[in-house]
Amino acid sequence: MNAKIAGIGFYVPERIVTNEELTEVMDTTSEWIVERTGIEERRYAEKHKDTTSTMAAEAAKIAIERAGLTAEDIDFIVFATLSPDYYFPGSGVLLQRHLGIKNIGCLDIRTQCTGFIYGISVADQYIKSGMYKNILVVGAELHSAGLDFSTRGRNVTVIFGDGAGAAVLQATEEDKGILTTNLHADGEFAEHLAYFNPGTHGGVFLGDKSDLTYEGEPEFGGMHLTQEMMDKGDIFPHMNGRYVFKHACEKFPAAIKEACEATGHTPDDINMLIPHQANLRISQMIQLGLGIEDERVYNNIQKYGNTTAASIPIALCEAWEKGLIKDGDLVCLAAFGSGFTWGAALIRW
Ligand code: ACO
Repeated sequence: MNAKIAGIGFYVPERIVTNEELTEVMDTTSEWIVERTGIEERRYAEKHKDTTSTMAAEAAKIAIERAGLTAEDIDFIVFATLSPDYYFPGSGVLLQRHLGIKNIGCLDIRTQCTGFIYGISVADQYIKSGMYKNILVVGAELHSAGLDFSTRGRNVTVIFGDGAGAAVLQATEEDKGILTTNLHADGEFAEHLAYFNPGTHGGVFLGDKSDLTYEGEPEFGGMHLTQEMMDKGDIFPHMNGRYVFKHACEKFPAAIKEACEATGHTPDDINMLIPHQANLRISQMIQLGLGIEDERVYNNIQKYGNTTAASIPIALCEAWEKGLIKDGDLVCLAAFGSGFTWGAALIRW
């Protein structure tokens, strides 16, 4: 039994936020943002309208309909996000509720930018083992609720946007679908791209501190937020940008090559590469390193920013809607992100 992508969908909030708009609240310029990241605008969710799970539901409904199914046909949900509606329970059960499905299992994945790749890998195994037939895999993020809109947070805030993407993975006897996935992680670098609070870290970093850009130790409040955390900015994501850039440029191509080797292909065989939309400059470095021409890579970070777990399904869906992915194409998905985690998937469409 193979697992094919039977339907895909995406949803982004209506509100477009341009780089110019960000210059009104922080010391940055559109030129700086475009030059370093390629991002021109992103979408921000509307308060009291969109949440991570409602955006996921919008994307999921499209994917389910395109698969020719109804919500009752879904056997299992895999939900990837780093920006859940609640600290607990995870957003998977909320998505299940929005879709009006009862009883099926919901699994939440916390591997950040690689969440969708981890998600389809899990779904692929369940389908191959015969346990489930139709699995909904979703990546959704509502970053705008958790960013630092002062100049202090500008290196992180300008990069991220909100949105959701979904895919229905379906059992098939046809010779198509997920050919291989590879998943990797190295927790040694956990603090180089992280959001520490609320958490149980105890105020100390136990990992390798060399090259860490965070100075000192994070404020600790157990699972509570404190005034000290707010004053210090410890309630926002921390990113060692240059370090992330360097590791991403090594790990992305390694995962793509591994997926090709595992299936007897080379990067020349890939018809469409969908890299996680971390930063346009990272995508260009990968493309250059693997010798993949512009026509065989799809990027849309220019319009949506980095939507973390949602970026791959959004880009995959948009490329497919534009007719850039056709039956029989070899499609490669690849990601790198916080953890660090990285991985790739190769799909015969
Ligand atoms: N506007 C203007 N100036 C800025 C901004 C901004 N938004 N952000 C940082 N700067 C300034 C810094 O303060 C610094 O000033 P200084 O030299 O006076 O100290 C200067 O620009 C250079 O800062 P760096 O952080 O060293 O800038 P860098 O050239 O590394 O670019 C960036 C930062 C774009 C974040 C880059 O490191 C990067 O792209 N890293 C990869 C990280 C990434 O893509 N993360 C995405 C999320 S993770 C993922 O999805 C894999």
